[in-house]
Amino acid sequence: MWNKHRIFLVIGCLCLSVLMSLSSCSPDPPPVVIGSGGSNGGDGDTTLISVSELPSLRIPADNPLTVAGVDLGRHLFYDKILSGDQTQACGSCHLQKFAFSDGNKFSKGIRGDLGTRNAMVLFNLMWSDSFFWDSRAPSLRALATMPIENPVEMDARVEDVLVRLNNSAFYKEKFKKAFNIDVIDKEHLSMAIEQFLLTLTSDNSRFDQFNRGELELTDAELRGFEKLKVKGCFACHSTSLMHDDLSHNTGLDKFPQDLGKGATTMKSTDDYKFKTPSLRNVMISSPYMHDGRFSTIEEVINFYEVDANLTSRNASADLLQVAKRNRLTPSELADVKAFLNALTDQKLITNSKYSDPF
Ligand code: HEC
Ligand code: HEC
Repeated sequence: MWNKHRIFLVIGCLCLSVLMSLSSCSPDPPPVVIGSGGSNGGDGDTTLISVSELPSLRIPADNPLTVAGVDLGRHLFYDKILSGDQTQACGSCHLQKFAFSDGNKFSKGIRGDLGTRNAMVLFNLMWSDSFFWDSRAPSLRALATMPIENPVEMDARVEDVLVRLNNSAFYKEKFKKAFNIDVIDKEHLSMAIEQFLLTLTSDNSRFDQFNRGELELTDAELRGFEKLKVKGCFACHSTSLMHDDLSHNTGLDKFPQDLGKGATTMKSTDDYKFKTPSLRNVMISSPYMHDGRFSTIEEVINFYEVDANLTSRNASADLLQVAKRNRLTPSELADVKAFLNALTDQKLITNSKYSDPF
């Protein structure tokens, strides 16, 4: 049963290592294209992909990653220049040490206003087809300026931000190098942020290392994996990404207030559905759920076992299966936590290529 997993993760890892090596290139090369769309992407090593039932690199064909582009995106991600009063950066709410989420239930915007949703983790984004809890952003590029304009987040007008960037010799040079443009525009601002977000990848947890045959997991960790499997958690937290990139109503409330994806698609069949988060790095990304209502894994498990509102409209049928299983005993819960801890990727949270460059 491990074989399939092993194969998948090995391929994923090799693909990722192409990405990871990106910024180890010398500091001033001409733009180096390391991935450029198509079904294979990557640096052309198709042998990695042809045997794969698993994600291969997905880089937009019209925005190939370059050393200069990613470097620019990283600076923008951490620069407060993007917010209305220049007090907040993307990185203020997406902290590397929390797998790029923020340890709070709701994030504070520049005016101290709280949003209504929990900040999401940022990694392995290239394998998602929609973004935000309610899937309202169809691409990272489309998303890039949305937090800037969001009145309870960075609350700036993109036009004003562009004026600031165009007045900055530092950014003029960086945009020139990355995209060969003299006037910074919204499209290239978005493309630079997209490039950096695409590089945030996570595939080096103990579980990944186990799948690559680099170490053995403990018995407790393995038992925890089996438990979650039997419980049916991997029905939605599936594939090596540990999410299905779909949206579900998990029955958090019988009568939810937040329409979720339904507000995006205007389809009542999507009401109350939210994008499945990955279980990767879940032990460092509390609080949990779109509204951050749970602060511990115990609360989450207790919810699935006892409190899920199975009769909430559009509640997923898979939930019923989860709720039907026996409750975890305390020792099984300890095993599950051991397994979930094995999904924490130290490299993601310590990788200097992802850190604040200022
Ligand atoms: C004030 C805090 C805050 C700031 C600043 C912020 N974000 Fe977010 N981010 C959030 C929250 C909250 C969500 C979830 C919002 C939702 O679903 O409605 C989110 C979601 C995201 C997602 C979606 C991830 C996914 O898996 O769907 C991405 C990508 C993202 N933010 C990138 C950025 C970028 C890039 C910036 C800077 C331009 C930024 N964020 C600035 C709080 C913030
Ligand atoms: C029907 C699909 C489905 C099943 C089955 C499922 N989940 Fe989830 N899970 C989701 C969705 C969707 C969310 C986000 C829900 C929300 O915020 O409204 C979620 C959220 C979570 C979170 C919070 C993660 C975060 O970053 O906020 C954890 C932890 C979690 N699930 C663990 C589990 C465990 C453990 C099981 C098995 C007992 C399980 N899930 C079964 C779909 C599912």
